[in-house]
Amino acid sequence: MFPRKGASEEEVLAELEEKTAEDLTFDSGRILGSMCTYPHPFARKVISIYIDRNLGDPGLHIGSQKIEEEAIQMISNLLGLEKGYGNIVSGGTEANILAVRAFRNLADVEKPELILPRSAHFSFLKASEMLGVKLVWTELKEDYSVDVNDVERKITDNTIGIVGIAGTTGLGVVDDISALSDLAIDYGLPLHVDAAFGGFVIPFAKELGYDLPDFDFRLKGVQSITIDPHKMGMVPIPAGGIIFRKKKFLEAISVPAPYLAGGKVWQATITGTRPGANALAVWAMIKHLGFEGYKEVVKRAMELSRWFAGELKKIPGVYLIREPMLNIVSFGTTNLEEVEEKLKRRGWGISAHRGYIRIVMMPHVRREHLEEFLRDLQEIITR
Ligand SMILES: Cc1ncc(COP(=O)(O)O)c(C=O)c1O
Repeated sequence: MFPRKGASEEEVLAELEEKTAEDLTFDSGRILGSMCTYPHPFARKVISIYIDRNLGDPGLHIGSQKIEEEAIQMISNLLGLEKGYGNIVSGGTEANILAVRAFRNLADVEKPELILPRSAHFSFLKASEMLGVKLVWTELKEDYSVDVNDVERKITDNTIGIVGIAGTTGLGVVDDISALSDLAIDYGLPLHVDAAFGGFVIPFAKELGYDLPDFDFRLKGVQSITIDPHKMGMVPIPAGGIIFRKKKFLEAISVPAPYLAGGKVWQATITGTRPGANALAVWAMIKHLGFEGYKEVVKRAMELSRWFAGELKKIPGVYLIREPMLNIVSFGTTNLEEVEEKLKRRGWGISAHRGYIRIVMMPHVRREHLEEFLRDLQEIITR
């Protein structure tokens, strides 16, 4: 019911505290299956200062718009592009929708089709429904990466583009983007790389010596990349990223917004009014941590995932779905549903709805949390 009379701040806060008591919090270390994390304190600070900025009306907040642009350029550089075109958006979902929208608008075919791996995120289902683009799913190989031969077989005159994934949602697998890029060039098609998760992991892990495939604009067929600061970038939600190689993609999805207080602009994002503070936080975090800072975060996460995978293998009845490529470890057990239920009852934020349990080594996950989890898992399984 909409209250007729207001309550004091103390009363409202007390009610909030009571009602959120059943939420799991990132700092508790119990959330092991999420791609989000406890926001970096510095990002929180930036957001609290600039909470009023609206990038939906950039004429009013010209400085903030320039900062968003700088953030896009820094991320483009990280991804091997001197100058990119894009926006800080609400998340990987919006970024993927924007990429599909750009491909469709430029393709000029009557019955548009998008080719994507079975491992793709469900955001493409939303894109498909909203944009009238048929999804053509391709098979995976034994290692759970996309079968590039199957992709080639499925190309038709209606194909508007190809999707590859750099860090699949379930297993953190990086597809053979280089082969997809060659294919895209051969057939004159644009390739979109969904690096929503892997974008803030792979560049750093590669420099740390992990043997990972190329995935970014260094591959000439790659025309757009989704990369989310609100995942491994440690920026508060919402902060996704879409980068296009060429201006024409952004232009293909821009509409005129004529009546804004700050004057006429062109808008490519799905959202109109959108949080400037989060875009500023992306910029601030990149400036604050730098490549070396993110490399440290990724180093911890990668080392933890290798150690954790090794520990899982020691538990009878537990098996890895595949060796981890990034900082995601997914495993199965005998009586998986029962194990999931019991782990949840012990307060662990995990799920097994994909047919396995996925643990994401986000920055808030520490070794002591995992040791406790392993003890619980072992107890549950051997009982
Ligand atoms: C590979 C991939 N793409 C896209 C998304 C969607 O991101 P968001 O939930 O920020 O919209 C996710 C989310 O987990 C993802 O893993």
